Amino acid sequence: MKFYKAKDYNDMSRKAANIISAQVIMKPDCVLGLATGSTPIGTYKQLVEWYNKGDLDFSKVTTVNLDEYKGLPKDNEQSYYYFMNENLFSKVNIDKSRTFLPDGTEADSDKACKKYNEIIHSVGGVDLQLLGLGHNGHIGFNEPGIAFEKETHCVTLSERTIKANMRFFLSENDVPRQAYTMGIKTIMSAHKILVLISGEDKADIVREAFFGPITPQVTASILQLHNDVSVVADEAALSKCTDLI
Ligand code: F6R
Repeated sequence: MKFYKAKDYNDMSRKAANIISAQVIMKPDCVLGLATGSTPIGTYKQLVEWYNKGDLDFSKVTTVNLDEYKGLPKDNEQSYYYFMNENLFSKVNIDKSRTFLPDGTEADSDKACKKYNEIIHSVGGVDLQLLGLGHNGHIGFNEPGIAFEKETHCVTLSERTIKANMRFFLSENDVPRQAYTMGIKTIMSAHKILVLISGEDKADIVREAFFGPITPQVTASILQLHNDVSVVADEAALSKCTDLI
């Protein structure tokens, strides 16, 4: 794993956008694995800025997102499709028919997951997978205890994740209890992985996930076994690893 220390959130976002830009420039028809949440918003903003300057072309890029809430349609403001559209897809020249997320409106979990696995396989896998890190070590919606060999599956969100995500909803009750997520097997199959982490509230889990034992109890710890992981984190997020990096 390579660690890139950023000064703060903005610096993290620029560094991450540089890595993604390099991928798009070197392989214009690449497959990007994308994440939602607060962490990558600044990165997407930077990519849009560079696109507007004429420095980036997304016309041949394909994207597959990590996850989607079960039960939310694309036009629901809390859906991850809506998030991606707002933050990136509607702002660059990406071909929308090449942007994929699990189908939150498919009530049959097996069907939704099978279809998403087929999509990921049909695009030839992921060149660069972007990840955020949950406070409990989750990546995608792969909560602690998940089997490492899973592909796309339906998960029941942990209480901690529901509480963390309720900031985006009117109330805790409005947070969907289930989601479809890419599994660890799929994430680990990406050629390159880019993890973004910001803030002191993630400092403990950064140390645990990347310097602790590899265990399904800390999902992100499996990333220690991938051979091309870049972690771009700000000083606050790395503040409990200063003796290790
Ligand atoms: C988002 C996702 C999640 C987040 C994680 C961190 O698609 O899969 O694993 O990356 O919950 O969220 P933030 O960035 O909001 O702290």
